[in-house]
Amino acid sequence: MEEELKNKIVEYARLMEEKGFVVGTSGNISVRDGDVVAITPTSIDYHVMKPEDVVLVDLGGRLVEGERNPSSEVKMHLSIYNSRKDVRAVVHTHSRNASALAALGLSIPPILDETVNYFGGEIECTKYGMPGSSDLAKNVIEALGNRNGVLLSHHGALACGKDLKSAFENAERLERLAEIFIIASSIGKPESIPEESIDMEKDIFEMMNI
Ligand code: 13P
Repeated sequence: MEEELKNKIVEYARLMEEKGFVVGTSGNISVRDGDVVAITPTSIDYHVMKPEDVVLVDLGGRLVEGERNPSSEVKMHLSIYNSRKDVRAVVHTHSRNASALAALGLSIPPILDETVNYFGGEIECTKYGMPGSSDLAKNVIEALGNRNGVLLSHHGALACGKDLKSAFENAERLERLAEIFIIASSIGKPESIPEESIDMEKDIFEMMNI
């Protein structure tokens, strides 16, 4: 089981680079399996990363298995699993359009139905925290709430989901929504969808997220 999980993490980590969501060793991915979290190692190029480089830690960050050091963002990943029982996978990227908004401290308002259906509402930008810090972990929890994505102020983006496939698709969707928000804002002033639609779509989000 854990071997399969490690293979999948490396597969998606490579995909993250192929899609241009990260350069070099930036970004990280984790998956929760019971009380164990499998996470990408710190500072290893994705094209040389092997399944055995993936590190297993418990929910308190103690090493369970692995020769490598876990991602420097392990606190951020664990704080999400410790506060959100529904989240089983986290994908942190430095994708272009999301990072451009994060550099400005902007959130992505629900200007498209997808924002609510897949993320549960506005994709907020966190307060600033240094990469790898407890502050960043705390700020992410605050801005994430019960939704599935955040922009990390002056840093990048983070998406989560009920499994690795959903979390990765959310990372792709988040980047796409950031791009659409930038395009729409360059030709007009995009409005949020009506409140009553937001309420109905939040129910759909909660059903799909289980
Ligand atoms: P790691 O290589 O330690 O995962 O760090 C990459 C990164 O993007 C930090 O935010």
